Order: sequence, then structure tokens, then C-alpha cells
Amino acid sequence: MGSLGRAREARGVGGAKLEAEMKIDVALEPAEIERLGTRDLGGTHCVVLDVLRATSAMVTGLAEGVEAICPVTTIEEALAMREGCPGVVLGGERHGDRIEGFEVGNSPFEYRQLSGRKVVTTTTNGTVALRACGGARKVAVGAVLNLGAVTEWLRVEGPERLLVVCAGTFETLALEDVWAAGRLLEGFPGADWTDSARVALAVSGQWKDPLEALLASRNGRVLVGKGRRAEVEWCATESLYPVVGEMEGGWIRSGAFV
Ligand code: MLT
Repeated sequence: MGSLGRAREARGVGGAKLEAEMKIDVALEPAEIERLGTRDLGGTHCVVLDVLRATSAMVTGLAEGVEAICPVTTIEEALAMREGCPGVVLGGERHGDRIEGFEVGNSPFEYRQLSGRKVVTTTTNGTVALRACGGARKVAVGAVLNLGAVTEWLRVEGPERLLVVCAGTFETLALEDVWAAGRLLEGFPGADWTDSARVALAVSGQWKDPLEALLASRNGRVLVGKGRRAEVEWCATESLYPVVGEMEGGWIRSGAFV
């Protein structure tokens, strides 16, 4: 049974927690992600956000037919995976640009062309954040593109503990990730929020329009400067896809949540 089926079955038997019992925390920046290895995440659901652009590319790919995506942290790891799994597409970036010898970079538009393929990807922050959540009870890939679907997934799952992980940029916080975290949490007004969650909510309250928030961010401005405004606009399209990528056994596959 797929993840959607399992989640609906859980809801059917009353498995979902009441929203008021849900404890919601947010890892706002990369230093917190580094420390996740020392935390017991066994009872925690994680949603990982790297809006510009890693998780937006993944959500786009999964919605457009990519079979599965394996996030890895190094170029060497990606190359080794191709050795063991010929036919996989290698994707990813360093400093925003495609890695030499890899088929695709980290643009959501490139991920629209990979229907039916398996992708191994390594990016500066997004894939690192996903791998850091490997010990969590469940891990979902979130983006502005699938915020509605992630909200529905969480309502069905009803986790006791939710950690929203903002991937950031190099060592710093990324405004667009914190904004998206807050926007997601707006869907759970009755939950038990940590101070970090309240900070994310305060940020999302600043911009109602996702594109304005993304264009206010440093990453948004850098991408516009590189002639990639269309990608920023794409990544700001709220709830375009009814799809949640769930990571299990190192691979991300999609489940549909309408
Ligand atoms: C990352 O994973 O660090 C980013 O998404 C970088 C990018 O897409 O340029």
C-alpha cells in the first residue's frame, strides 16, 4: 500500500493526533540542521523546505513523472551511485550551477523533462537537510508548490511532533524557507508552537504574496540577477501540485494529496 493509502487507513482508525496536541518546531538555519544528528527524531515528522530551489525542483519532478529521487550530500557519492545504478540521472548544483559531468542542474524546469527516470541529486543545502532528517519517523519534501498538499498530508498523518526544516544557504538562514515554514504553520493555528515556529509565523505574516516574499530574499535577488526570474516565479506558485514527496530508505517518491 502507498503512503497515501497508509495515511488514510491511519485516519480511518483514528490514528491522527488532535491539532492541539501537535508540537511544532522549526529548524530555522543550517547550524540547527548540523545538530540534528544528535537529536532523537524517531517520534518526529519532518518537512524539509529548500524553496530556491532544491525542494521545488524535486516536487516539480515528482509531479511531472520522475520515478524517484535520491538526495546525497557529495559529488563523489552521486558518481558512485551511478556506477551501481546505470541509467540514473545525475542532478545538482554547486554555487547554483550544474555540476560538471552531471546531466541536469537544480532548475525545476529541468526536472520537468525527466518523466519515468530515477534521479540522484546533490545540492549545497537542500540534500544535506534531507539526509540530516534520515532518522525521523517520516520525512516529506515541501515547497511553496505543494504547500496545500503538505498541509493535507500533515492533517492525515496527525504527527505528535513536527519539525519543519529550513535548509538555508551555505551557513546562513534563507528568508524564503522561513517564510514558507510560517505559511505552512498558518494551517495549524491550534498547535503547540515553539518560539522558532512563532518566528516563522511572524515572517510569513510580512508577505501575503509568495512571489513578493521570494523576491525580497537574497536567493531570489541572486537568481533574478542571473536571468532566472522565471524560476523564482515558478517556485512561488502556491499549491500548484497535489503531491508530497516522502523519503523512505534514502529515496523520495511521490504520493498524491488533494
Ligand atoms: C541548495 O540546495 O543549496 C539550493 O537549492 C541551491 C540552488 O538551487 O541554487
